[in-house]
Amino acid sequence: MTTTASPPGQPGLQPVIRTSIAGASVADLARTHGTPLYVYDAEMIRRRCRDLAAWDTVRFAQKACSNLAVLALMRSEGVVVDAVSTGEIHRALAAGYAPHAAPGGGGGLPPVHPIVYTADIFDRESLEAVAKLGIHVNCGSADMIEQLAERVPGAGITLRVNPGFGHGHSQKTNTGGEGSKHGIWHEEIPDVLRRAEWAGLAVTGLHMHIGSGADLVHLAEVAGSLERVALEIGRSLTTISAGGGLPVPYKPGEVHADLSGYFTLWDAVRKRLEDRFGHRLRLEIEPGRYLTAESGFVITEVRAVKKQGARKYLLVDAGFNTLARPVLYGSYHPMSLCPADPRAPATGAEEVAVGGPLCESGDIFTQTDGGFVSTRALPAAHVGDLLVIEIAGAYGFVMASNYNSKPLPAEVLVDGGVARLVRRRQTPEDLVRGETV
Ligand code: LLP
Repeated sequence: MTTTASPPGQPGLQPVIRTSIAGASVADLARTHGTPLYVYDAEMIRRRCRDLAAWDTVRFAQKACSNLAVLALMRSEGVVVDAVSTGEIHRALAAGYAPHAAPGGGGGLPPVHPIVYTADIFDRESLEAVAKLGIHVNCGSADMIEQLAERVPGAGITLRVNPGFGHGHSQKTNTGGEGSKHGIWHEEIPDVLRRAEWAGLAVTGLHMHIGSGADLVHLAEVAGSLERVALEIGRSLTTISAGGGLPVPYKPGEVHADLSGYFTLWDAVRKRLEDRFGHRLRLEIEPGRYLTAESGFVITEVRAVKKQGARKYLLVDAGFNTLARPVLYGSYHPMSLCPADPRAPATGAEEVAVGGPLCESGDIFTQTDGGFVSTRALPAAHVGDLLVIEIAGAYGFVMASNYNSKPLPAEVLVDGGVARLVRRRQTPEDLVRGETV
């Protein structure tokens, strides 16, 4: 439960007290599983999957949150997956996804590929895996075409095209334009089509992804670019993908994007192409953040409260080893407090900087892009209180590290108020496994 008047999923305008997540007590979760701890709300993930029901295919960019239990939940919602590495292919298989499409997609649509390998290169391991398992490939470089053709003659492929522009919440998450290594440059299409034909591969899919955390105005521009490139490719196409990038509100005042308007725009592109080609086209979307960000929380414990001159710091037991987004991008995550003593009334908001345990100055959750320490209004906190970092379900655990020889945290999925451990915390033995003196 939270004590703000904010709509669900929307960061509060007032400092918040949070005592439960999806019906499970924050204090109990911390007591049972220790801190720092990742907690996911299963119902929120389901809700976000269902928001996108208008699309023929929702393909989860599992890099955002690839715990097997989350993937299994996606599968039960009819969501398929994208894999960017051999490891992600193995995760998808372990969660129950079939490696390749069953024939017939229903309603005249082409079959859906349960797993698509999307990358700008094949390392030797991934080429081996896609060839052996028959996994569909989305090629971000023309060199991948001949490499695949040698191993899988006659395969169908998707082309990931860089439309010449991009957008993201940070320059580091912009994946279009000359400043990005991603995708096949839009002006190279005629040459790439010749290479595919020469190699004996059919281009059945077209995909564009211009960045992560983009705004809908920029995302909407992709539809026009994709339509132009689709006409260059022609009738071999059976699937078009709008990529990912859907934003979610992190900061007070931000709101959810107009998803139905966005779908309508893409659906119109699809229909025009269907008319030109004379056959049905599958329309895919490939979100990561949208499906899991709001479901995820990091529970940490306040371990020190100190003043450095005029500035007050809360030091918690999670650091950028636990959640890297603030140090990498200056990302804002809402925070709330769960007092150790539930009877103690929360006293007035105060501006505090929040940092972690790492031996590095950048280990600050309240920082802006460029590494400048900022502060957050939180109820007065004491050692032993729990601090909850919110909207942490996308690019959270998956980007955690063992820096400073810290174990990776545990992950818990809460469904119907019941909490289930879905990944145990690493042990000291895990940290040195595989090493020798
Ligand atoms: N498709 C492709 C080909 C991608 O590269 C990505 C994200 C997605 C889909 C999903 O994008 P989303 O819907 O989540 O925006 N670590 C950064 C985000 C990096 C995104 C990488 N690619 C962050 O924490 O903001």
